[in-house]
Order: sequence, then C-alpha cells, then structure tokens
Amino acid sequence: MSTHAEGDVIAAESVEASCAAAQEASVPAAPDADRAIASRTRTFDTPRLRKDFAAQDAFLYLEDFLAPEVTAQLAHSARALLDEVNRNYLPGHKQGGSVSRHTIDRLAPFVAELYRSKELIGWLEQLSGDKLQVSPPDDPHAYALYYYTRPGDHIGWHYDTSYYDGRRYTLLLGVIDDSSCRLDYELHTRNPDVPDQPGSVQYPPGSLVFFDGDKLRHRVTPAGENEMRVSLTFEYVTDPNMRPWRRFISNMKDAIAYFGFRQVFRQLAARGKERA
Ligand SMILES: [Fe+2]
Repeated sequence: MSTHAEGDVIAAESVEASCAAAQEASVPAAPDADRAIASRTRTFDTPRLRKDFAAQDAFLYLEDFLAPEVTAQLAHSARALLDEVNRNYLPGHKQGGSVSRHTIDRLAPFVAELYRSKELIGWLEQLSGDKLQVSPPDDPHAYALYYYTRPGDHIGWHYDTSYYDGRRYTLLLGVIDDSSCRLDYELHTRNPDVPDQPGSVQYPPGSLVFFDGDKLRHRVTPAGENEMRVSLTFEYVTDPNMRPWRRFISNMKDAIAYFGFRQVFRQLAARGKERA
C-alpha cells in the first residue's frame, strides 16, 4: 500500500515538475532592451520621421516599430499581470483596467528597462527635438498597461495634460489586440491657424504612437463582446518638477481614473517613509 502511495506522490511530483518546466519554457527570455530598440531604429529614416512628427503638430504613428521579441515579451507580461488589473468606471468618460508602474516594477521589470532604454529615449529626442527625462519615481503613470477586456471598455475624448512644469510626451505601444477598438485623434486642435485634422488607427501589437499630450485630442472607441486589447504607455517629460497642488490633482486623477487609491497613495506613503 505504502509503495503505491509513494508511487502516486512521485508521479504527482514529476507531473508538477514537467508542468513547471513547460511553463518556464513558454516564457520568452527577456531581450536586451537597448539592443532590441537599436536594431529597429537604425533601419528608420529618422530625419524624415522627425519632419512628419513636426508637420502633424507633434504626433507620429508607426505600424511596425518594436522588434518581434520585444512584442512577445510585452504580450507575455500583459497576460501574466491580468490578476493585477485595477478596474475603473467613470460614467460617460472611461471604463477599463490599468496596471501602474509600481506593480510593473515588482512583476515585469523588462517593461521598466524598456522605459529607461537610452536608445529609445535618444531616438524619441531626435523626433521631438526636446531633451526628455523619465518621470519621477512616485508617478504611477510613468509607465502603465491599459486593459480593454470587457464590452464597452473605452476612454472618451481627452488630452494627456501635463501637470509638470514642462511638456509631457506620451508613447503608446501596441501589445495585444484582439479587438475592434480604435484610437481616434484630432491633430492641430491647439493651433488656430491650421484646420483640425481627424485620424484613426488601430495600432496593432508592435506599433508605436508618439505625441505631445497637450496637443493631441484623442479617445479609444469601445471594445465589443469577447474582445481584448492591451497597450503600454510610457510618459516622458521635459521638466520633472511639479507644483504640489498639481501633484495632488494628478494623483487624484490617477487614483480615480486609473490605478486606485491604494496603488497611488500607499506608494507615496512608503516613499515618504523611505525619505524620512
Ligand atoms: Fe490619453
């Protein structure tokens, strides 16, 4: 009897071990972020893209931007973080899920590495003509994942307003797209001399959207039944200083519309303690 029971235990252990090995094998190895970005950006005509960016009032869309191994890594991370998604519902404006940089730091360090990639930042500086900096450590929106996983998930027309003393640029990267969602946008809305120019893209996995948050009016249209869309947002600034009352407004917005009070204010309290 006891031999039979032991045999069962050994069999169960070996099944568990082979499942773990299979799971490990399916996890794509994290690529070198700088090398992967450089492998793509060196193939682009960056001076021409810079002209396009300026002509579109600080907006650029590239359908094929990320190296395939980077897209695969991001898609894996996005699925692995599904249990960490914070859902929000702002009637008439927004419905969806988000994962903040604080959670990404704990569970998906490659995303943070990609955000800080000198190759990526250097290339975005060439496009924008601005010296770019990463957002401060207490900004939950520095890098974040957006999830559209339930029917009706969307975000209405808005700007990515800068609460910083300088400009705020948004980089959106397509991660997973089994959806009908579209990014609708309007160019030149802040320029009275040029008529507004509407546009719309679906930005598939691996694509890039880069813009000055205060200039591009945009929205994401509602997801349908059984659809899933995940995108990654990176925020870069020209001046990381923010006045305290603006920091308060920005934190409240992030807590209510994106990450929840726990994520935003707990992290702030923890950092306050670290500094004390
Ligand atoms: Fe936005």
